[in-house]
Amino acid sequence: SIHIASTTAPVNIATLKYWGKRDADLNLPTNSSISVTLSQDDLRTLTSVATSESFNKDTLWINGKEESLDSKRTQDCLKDLRSLREEMEVNDKSLPRFSQWKLHIVSENNFPTAAGLASSAAGFAALVVAIAKLYQLPQSMSELSKIARKGSGSACRSLFGGYVAWEMGQLANGEDSMAVPVASMDEWPEMKAAILVVSDVKKDTPSTQGMQLTVHTSDLFKERINNVVPRRFEEMKTAIRNKNFKEFAELTMKDSNSFHATCLDSYPPIFYMNDTSKKIIRLIHSINEFFGEVIVAYTFDAGPNAVLYYLEKDEAKIFAFIYTLLKKVEGWANKYTEPELQSFE
Ligand code: DP6
Repeated sequence: SIHIASTTAPVNIATLKYWGKRDADLNLPTNSSISVTLSQDDLRTLTSVATSESFNKDTLWINGKEESLDSKRTQDCLKDLRSLREEMEVNDKSLPRFSQWKLHIVSENNFPTAAGLASSAAGFAALVVAIAKLYQLPQSMSELSKIARKGSGSACRSLFGGYVAWEMGQLANGEDSMAVPVASMDEWPEMKAAILVVSDVKKDTPSTQGMQLTVHTSDLFKERINNVVPRRFEEMKTAIRNKNFKEFAELTMKDSNSFHATCLDSYPPIFYMNDTSKKIIRLIHSINEFFGEVIVAYTFDAGPNAVLYYLEKDEAKIFAFIYTLLKKVEGWANKYTEPELQSFE
């Protein structure tokens, strides 16, 4: 017989960036981070897994195309999930021996993988949760987030909806480096995110490689992880719990700028933002100045696309401004998505 389970995991966009590993093998970060998980109706990965005694090899299809499962990261996730299942089978001999059977994994993104939008986070989160469901593992989402983390650091945050923290942890084995919820989307449902797609070409320096270069060569990075992020981590959690948009937005923009500054301070320097990204930054600051209050924040990951955070009530006026002014911005791809945020169960 064949046993099947599926799940979806949305993309998450960090407002306090993860940048730097203290252990590249276990994907342990040099700082804690915070993100907002988008709605499952928007950017998400849908993964279905099947297992059967009759399958003869683990197989993965992503968007209809067979892909390799050989990467160490994927193998680490599968190994952890199988050993948790095996523990259950040892304790309950009546359980089918899924831990010994091969898996067929079918994964689909509802957005173009090459759109320069992080897909690894949603991908590994969905993979881990789908298999955990198939295996009926009793572990909590935070426990499972430690497995997703080994696939891709940022993936651990996509196991929760809403506002999520990834606590860096102190232990060398990574047992305390996991995602925890800060607030559900229902606690601050007015928050919205929009993605301004500046470029859909694949980023030039992959994050893993970029962060290692920063860790090894940037002096500014030391200041960031020792003195800047630990304070911001507490301040941002407080801003979220108090629904203090101004504070949340300012911390988000400053942290994006701080992360890109450490990229520029790496040697040789890494540039993720392009001229259009910089024009968007100026545009957002001029919108906030025009209205005399902070109503919109930008953040950029390892690529030139902007993610904006704002409250629903301000959406119309922000986009009226953006449509008018972006027409003047050269290189603007004239495409955007406007994901609505909601919790992910
Ligand atoms: C800039 O999670 O993609 O988006 O752990 O090597 O897979 P790996 O890196 P990844 O890095 C994400 C970096 C970031 C910031 C963030 O999401 O916090």
